[in-house]
Amino acid sequence: MKRKTVIDMQKMKADGEKISVLTCYDYPTARIMDGCGIDMILVGDSLGVVVSGHENTLPVTVEEMIYHTRAVMRAQPKALVIADMPFLSYQIDLTSARFNAGRLIKEGGAAAVKLEGGTNIAATIGAIVEMDIPVMAHIGLTPQSIHRMGGYRVQGKKEEQAEKLIADAHAVEAAGAFAVVLEGIPLKLAQRITAELSIPTIGIGAGPHCDGQVLVIHDILGLCEKYSPKFVKKYADVRSIIVEAVANYIGEVKRGEFPTEAHSFN
Ligand code: KIV
Repeated sequence: MKRKTVIDMQKMKADGEKISVLTCYDYPTARIMDGCGIDMILVGDSLGVVVSGHENTLPVTVEEMIYHTRAVMRAQPKALVIADMPFLSYQIDLTSARFNAGRLIKEGGAAAVKLEGGTNIAATIGAIVEMDIPVMAHIGLTPQSIHRMGGYRVQGKKEEQAEKLIADAHAVEAAGAFAVVLEGIPLKLAQRITAELSIPTIGIGAGPHCDGQVLVIHDILGLCEKYSPKFVKKYADVRSIIVEAVANYIGEVKRGEFPTEAHSFN
């Protein structure tokens, strides 16, 4: 089985082929999306919200990221698997950042890590890349910065902010990131960054001009009851399917219709 690599992702940008990315946190979903031919699987710290029910991603731990990355890796995906570095696993110092990135590769089995930040985190990206661990950067609306941003707000709308994001994009590329997520920024700004960088840009709420797109799997399947941002497209209403199946099961159990002999042993 040939696994996709960071080199393949960079070649896709060079060839003008769009890169498809989805988040994933478990074995059965990884098997399904890999069978569909997804290019990259991101074990995102969004799992703190969509799987564990936290308000935001800040409580997620390295142990949780390893647990979910291992579950995804057991599906033996052909996709390139990237594990998110959770809050506080890379901000303190370079030694702990390198150690935690190494754990996601060694114990989790991922082929790359992702961390949030631009110019402020470039030295950390460089230190991890120096260990031969590929890094995907993440700039713009960075969910771990929710308290600084005052909520999940579109970034880079003002000229000064836009210039800062362009500088961030160049800083992470220069630090050795193999790709960069652009989240929640105006489409023209994402277009400019995509044109200026030689590494692939992966957009989420950043318009159609990025080299690839990423969305949270629970959002595209319609599994989240909470507010869905404008940039999400719901490709299925799986919540309704689950509600119907569970309600039917409860009804059949209550009425004594399940199990029948067909579901029983003689
Ligand atoms: O944690 C996550 O899922 C992410 C993506 C949505 C980019 O960072």
